[in-house]
Amino acid sequence: LTPLLASCIDRRQHVGGPAMVLFTVTKKSTTPFEGQKPGTSGLRKKVTVFQQPNYLQNFVQATFNALPADQVKGATIVVSGDGRYFSKDAVQIITKMAAANGVRRVWVGQNSLMSTPAVSCVIRERIGADGSKATGAFILTASHNPGGPTEDFGIKYNMGNGGPAPESVTDKIFSNTTTINEYLIAEDLPDVDISVVGVTSFSGPEGPFDVDVFDSSVDYIKLMKSIFDFEAIKKLLTSPKFTFCYDALHGVAGAYANRIFVEELGADESSLLNCVPKEDFGGGHPDPNLTYAKELVERMGLGKSTSNVEPPEFGAAADGDADRNMILGKRFFVTPSDSVAIIAANAVQSIPYFSSGLKGVARSMPTSAALDVVAKNLNLKFFEVPTGWKFFGNLMDAGMCSICGEESFGTGSDHIREKDGIWAVLAWLSILAFKNKDNLGGDKLVSVEDIVRQHWATYGRHYYTRYDYENVDAGAAKELMSNLVSMQSSLSDVNKLIKEIRSDVSDVVAADEFEYKDPVDGSVSKHQGIRYLFGDGSRLVFRLSGTGSVGATIRVYIEQYEKDPSKIGRESQDALAPLVDVALKLSKMQEYTGRSAPTVIT
Ligand code: G6P
Ligand code: ZN
Repeated sequence: LTPLLASCIDRRQHVGGPAMVLFTVTKKSTTPFEGQKPGTSGLRKKVTVFQQPNYLQNFVQATFNALPADQVKGATIVVSGDGRYFSKDAVQIITKMAAANGVRRVWVGQNSLMSTPAVSCVIRERIGADGSKATGAFILTASHNPGGPTEDFGIKYNMGNGGPAPESVTDKIFSNTTTINEYLIAEDLPDVDISVVGVTSFSGPEGPFDVDVFDSSVDYIKLMKSIFDFEAIKKLLTSPKFTFCYDALHGVAGAYANRIFVEELGADESSLLNCVPKEDFGGGHPDPNLTYAKELVERMGLGKSTSNVEPPEFGAAADGDADRNMILGKRFFVTPSDSVAIIAANAVQSIPYFSSGLKGVARSMPTSAALDVVAKNLNLKFFEVPTGWKFFGNLMDAGMCSICGEESFGTGSDHIREKDGIWAVLAWLSILAFKNKDNLGGDKLVSVEDIVRQHWATYGRHYYTRYDYENVDAGAAKELMSNLVSMQSSLSDVNKLIKEIRSDVSDVVAADEFEYKDPVDGSVSKHQGIRYLFGDGSRLVFRLSGTGSVGATIRVYIEQYEKDPSKIGRESQDALAPLVDVALKLSKMQEYTGRSAPTVIT
């Protein structure tokens, strides 16, 4: 039987009676691979690494072995991702391993597509036809890293709350990968045709096993409709004055964009850019920032082109797995740090889900303090957590946080336990719809830029930039960081050095490595970034990326607070030039890395 034929027969049998295709379980012996330690967001390696015999299998078995038995045996598990190259093979492998490990059902997004936020939504919200609920998910993505045969693949496990596995679980997974000597697989289970929606049933030594292929946009849209006022957003999007552009960078967001923005909200089809998901993201780098979202940046009038076509009023982009977002106005960039602050400041009036108030707000440490000012003004609970969405999840599960965000183009809320790229766009559209609700027939709409400038006028402005040095020699990066740590022992020496570099910046008044004690479970996370804090509220932060797959990526975060309304309108790179100078010289960036310029500036 060809796999396709086998699955067709199955589907028919499922409708008409008990499943007939039987599978057996094989124990395969294996040996550990080095370096299967999950990073900030799972295990990310080159596709060629994942294609080594047993490489994926070891990690998947290590994960099954790390989970409580009742989350494997008889459980329902989601397997899907951003559709990048190798996903379809991985879905079949994981499905066969799930069957062999006694999993009862595997839920797969059609064509293996499910955005990371949609996975979180599916775990939390979806109820199977037989009343089943998922207890976790293998998410197949390397997020914003490029895809294709010579690029990255990734896998991470999310738990029953819809959020990434906590460190206690990922540590266990890693430790299992170092000792693994066998895995279970149902080799004779036929491949399931994941391009067709439907349930395929099989039968194994432990009883029935189902593969349920479905379109996750149904569950996701239902959730979005319960949060936002779609009618109000539709009025804005269909107003002749409002123009819109959404760039999925050929990531999985494209699978939702047409359904939401065009079909539900009435945007013109021409507003969608790169919205056909591709295994290699069209050869691009699916990271929504000013460097990689080139086409959108041009369209929004922020690029080099001198076209005299009027840019859209609003533009946004997503990364490969659609959890990140970039928000743009006409010829205007909204920093992610400002974005979360502005959403928080306007949520209660503009978004029905928040109408009864916010439980609290949170940001990651390197994110600017724009949100802090809003929290203070609105008297909201506020938390500063290390980089990584899982830290927000704990606060949300404990009912302490409604809205949160990160400088790394992540924004979200407690509707799920992942950041959510499309949610962020709908949040902004809601704010625009609210500000323009009596104005859609007027001369000029309140623009994205108007909203941001108004926000700065009210709360002050946090000038902010991030310099990334990608694929730096890992040893050199480590040395640069330890030098920055050892310098922290004498602030007077640091200040002497700084005065020699620039006399026009204020003194460093504190310096440390950020450490976080989780207020919910009391766990402590150390070494979460090196901070230099200046007397005028400015900050320099240095961190090594936890999401790269080769070498090291050094990130430098530079921030300066300006309250004086006459000084909030400067170009960000001008305003920050002195601090940038200090950051690069203080860290001896060029000396250590040999780089005279960053790979990306955001
Ligand atoms: C992922 C996580 C984010 C985190 C980001 C940091 O996207 O989901 O929560 O902010 O990685 O990446 P980095 O490369 O700076 O470690
Ligand atoms: Zn992502």
